Amino acid sequence: MNEDRRSAVRLDDVFITYTRGDVSVEAVRGVSLEIRAGEFVSIEGPSGSGKSSLLRAIAGLCETTSGEIQVGGASLPSLSAGELADLRRTSIGFVHQLHNLFPDLTAAQNVALPLHLDGLAPKTIATRVGETFERLGIAPLTDRLPEELSGGEMLRVAVARALVIEPLVILADEPTGSLDQANGKMVIEILRKLNAEGTTIVVVTHDEAIASGAGRRVRIVDGRLE
Ligand SMILES: Nc1ncnc2c1ncn2[C@@H]1O[C@H](COP(=O)(O)OP(=O)(O)OP(=O)(O)O)[C@@H](O)[C@H]1O
Ligand SMILES: [Mg+2]
Repeated sequence: MNEDRRSAVRLDDVFITYTRGDVSVEAVRGVSLEIRAGEFVSIEGPSGSGKSSLLRAIAGLCETTSGEIQVGGASLPSLSAGELADLRRTSIGFVHQLHNLFPDLTAAQNVALPLHLDGLAPKTIATRVGETFERLGIAPLTDRLPEELSGGEMLRVAVARALVIEPLVILADEPTGSLDQANGKMVIEILRKLNAEGTTIVVVTHDEAIASGAGRRVRIVDGRLE
């Protein structure tokens, strides 16, 4: 690993506590981790150990109780809501387990959405979306609605939507969790290919096939890194 590669994500003593009424759950308890640009890191651990909480916090989707999170050098806790939204739109590609595609939009329209939000010209958007579909080998799916896609295909479209913004990092939460082996394998191959091309990837997974393809594996138990 090249020591002077820049830091993509940096966590310093991060705590995440969920509180409802007088019940509180300490989901993440003092996690420090640095992920350098170009790394492929898997986060593993038992159910309820804080993996999704940590990933959502890196994506700016979940507030930390204390500690520091930096993405591409920007400190998330100190950003305004607008700045955080900008950072998420331009730098963070998030792949949800349930892919979260809009049912009334075609695959291409779903993938184009973040670029529309970014105010790019329609022609630029069409080019970028087309290139991303080609890159992931899903060009034939362009005009299909989500209901016309298999689970694995939906997930590949969701990866396309994360990738189209050319993010600093792709975060994926159990991307193969709901897929059969063949589709799961296809998604793993895509993640590995993107990483080989330079994309930084952080993936939460129970899937040994994904984890063994990662450049670094970290494990979280009871909210702490082992
Ligand atoms: N929004 C929330 N409000 C309250 N508690 C929550 C919330 N989200 C998660 N938790 C709790 O925080 C802990 C960590 O949850 P998290 O979803 O991060 O675990 P996980 O490692 O992703 O588990 P899994 O492998 O089952 O997805 C759990 O005890 C969970 O019940
Ligand atoms: Mg989870």
